[in-house]
Amino acid sequence: MKTYFIKTFGCQMNELDSDLISGILLKRGLKQAKDIFLADLVIINTCSVRELAEVKAIDLIHRVLKKKVYIGVVGCMVNARDENLIKKFPKVNFFIGTKNFSKLDEILDNLKKNEQIVKKDNFEKKYLEEVDYFIAKRKSKIKAFVSIIRGCDNFCTYCIVPYTRGPQVSKDLNSIVDECKKLTDLGYKEITLLGQNVNSYGLDIKDNKTSFVHLLEKLNNIKDLQRIRFLTSHPKDISKELVYAIRDLDKVCNFLHFPMQAGSNRILKKMNRKYLIEEYLEKIDFIKAEIPGVTLGTDIIVGFPTETEDDFNETIKCFEKVKYLSAFIFAYSPRPKTVAAKHFIDDVPKEIKLKRLQTLLDLYKNILNKEYQSDIGKVFDVLVEKKSKRNKFLKGFSKNFKKIVFEGDDNFIGKTQKIKIKNCHNQTLIGEIF
Ligand code: SAH
Ligand code: SF4
Ligand code: F3S
Repeated sequence: MKTYFIKTFGCQMNELDSDLISGILLKRGLKQAKDIFLADLVIINTCSVRELAEVKAIDLIHRVLKKKVYIGVVGCMVNARDENLIKKFPKVNFFIGTKNFSKLDEILDNLKKNEQIVKKDNFEKKYLEEVDYFIAKRKSKIKAFVSIIRGCDNFCTYCIVPYTRGPQVSKDLNSIVDECKKLTDLGYKEITLLGQNVNSYGLDIKDNKTSFVHLLEKLNNIKDLQRIRFLTSHPKDISKELVYAIRDLDKVCNFLHFPMQAGSNRILKKMNRKYLIEEYLEKIDFIKAEIPGVTLGTDIIVGFPTETEDDFNETIKCFEKVKYLSAFIFAYSPRPKTVAAKHFIDDVPKEIKLKRLQTLLDLYKNILNKEYQSDIGKVFDVLVEKKSKRNKFLKGFSKNFKKIVFEGDDNFIGKTQKIKIKNCHNQTLIGEIF
């Protein structure tokens, strides 16, 4: 076994886990193959959050199996699915859940062509301590994901994540600070703290010192670090102190991913989101009033069981009011084990789900066009990440998460540069050095 290829489905946590797996494999002396069908070992890191993600992963597993190479299936689907998944794929060499990557070396040492190794998770309340996150092979040299909390205790009725990643467990504060310091020493400029619900970081540690605000304060003191981002923030847990911290800590960026999910109180209650839409909008008003230039992101589900046209209109109304800069809009799909799948009928027809999805996407596009047009003439601090595909433009983001490109040479990469916006195209701002 000389080469490997990892295919990642799902969210940023999976991306980071794949980088971690990559680090483990590189340390064993394997090399990354250019193409999935050229590798000796293929690892498929799966996502179960929507049906489509699972369908795509299963299709890929079938295609890779035809190649008769070593194949491992890891991540959320391994925990979400019962023994059936494993029975369905007797030729997959190993399965690992979301918490046992430290066993990968041992599994590969013991791998035999016709045996299958399965390491599902038992979801004890323990952070993934045994793995050295520092060996993760990150793709960017400028920005890095750092996991601060794994799992979720919220049990929104539609969501499979508590069953794929287990209960919420916060990572030790000092080890996070250490990791961020080390990354900064290596030249990383921006850190994105990851968790299903970063606002509740530390709530599971009973020492009064471990809180999200305290963590942000500590990270803000790292001298050469330029930017701190984080996601996701559950609306029920955001505190005034956190809003003030985002406002006052100079490295903490003024973009907040703050998923509304739905605009109707009846639907929010059925989703078990634990907030009223009025409370959500009040928090948004407070955030906008306190944090200069703040932009917001959201996730929305359309076609949740029993959603009527009136409910959906509430979502539209709130969406228009908040004017999100970033929105992930999904059609509801029932997920195994969840309360919604067990107890609610998936009664909104597919065509209506897709129609609502399109209505929101059109609205989103209109809002974005106006927002980006209004940026023409403004000046933003851009942390320059890389040359864009066509190799002419440099690409980076403003603190409030607007994608900006401009012409310049490679010396700008890794630096923060003031850019004056001249134009915009397809949700990208085009500017010049100011
Ligand atoms: N922890 C984050 C979200 C994690 S999952 C939060 O609470 O905001 C990412 C998004 O997938 C969710 O916000 C939701 O919008 C969407 N999602 C989750 N389950 C879904 C389902 N069954 N059908 C459609 N979308 C779903
Ligand atoms: Fe899923 Fe809700 Fe947890 Fe987010 S907060 S991961 S949507 S259960
Ligand atoms: Fe998917 Fe798991 Fe992330 S289910 S969205 S990869 S936490």
